[in-house]
Amino acid sequence: MISENEMDNISEIVEKSGLKHIAFIMDGNGRWATKRGLPREFGHKAGAETFKKIVRYCRSIGIKTATVYAFSTENIKRPKREVNAIFRLLGEYVEEGKEEKDVEFKFIGAPEELGEDVYKKVTELESVTKGGKSRVNVAFNYGGRAEIVHAVNKLLKDNKTVITEDDISANVYTSDVGDPDLIIRTGNEVRISNFLLWQCAYSELYFSETLWPDFSTDELDKAIMDFSHRSRRWGGLDTKK
Ligand code: FPP
Repeated sequence: MISENEMDNISEIVEKSGLKHIAFIMDGNGRWATKRGLPREFGHKAGAETFKKIVRYCRSIGIKTATVYAFSTENIKRPKREVNAIFRLLGEYVEEGKEEKDVEFKFIGAPEELGEDVYKKVTELESVTKGGKSRVNVAFNYGGRAEIVHAVNKLLKDNKTVITEDDISANVYTSDVGDPDLIIRTGNEVRISNFLLWQCAYSELYFSETLWPDFSTDELDKAIMDFSHRSRRWGGLDTKK
């Protein structure tokens, strides 16, 4: 348990370190369930609980934006039973999300390709929560390369003939909240897996061995402390030295 003092302290660290946006690759749900002799769907259910806890905590310590990788464009290849379980969790979460205070939800990716039922749910949550002070981006049917292609095609449609980096930054799904300062991947895998490929150019990366359902606010504090000691140079020299 984190005491109020420690919480004040971590909020201060968040503010001083300029940490505004954290993205999470929530990996390890399936292994968590298998280790317990349970079907993989149970891991996603436990993972959804962790997701709720972590995004609420982010908000309470002053993180303005949390982006989570909930369903990649490749995840549709998983067994129907597992895919349906994730869609069901999404539906349940949409109902709970509508009750959250002061948080705006945005779905990034191509959820419209997942059928009318899913799309209706995500657009409903987006419209009910519009204008909330903090932001949760849920990547659902998301792929990083597809996102860049989507941005370029939008620009071509606007008759752009020369495309700049700023143009692409202004046309990726997260353009209104900026790039993630920190990307955390759980589940003991050290790769990006087609997540926020454009936006991660200067993100700090943090890899945790913990399986996502076991990821705790204490471990998030540890990642934030670690972030606060990094020297971000964006390709330049350290101005603090
Ligand atoms: C990766 O773990 C996780 C996913 C593909 C799904 C993430 C979904 C949730 C956390 C719950 C749903 C949340 C919402 C918002 C609907 P994995 O299954 O690849 O784990 P493994 O590597 O152990 O197999």
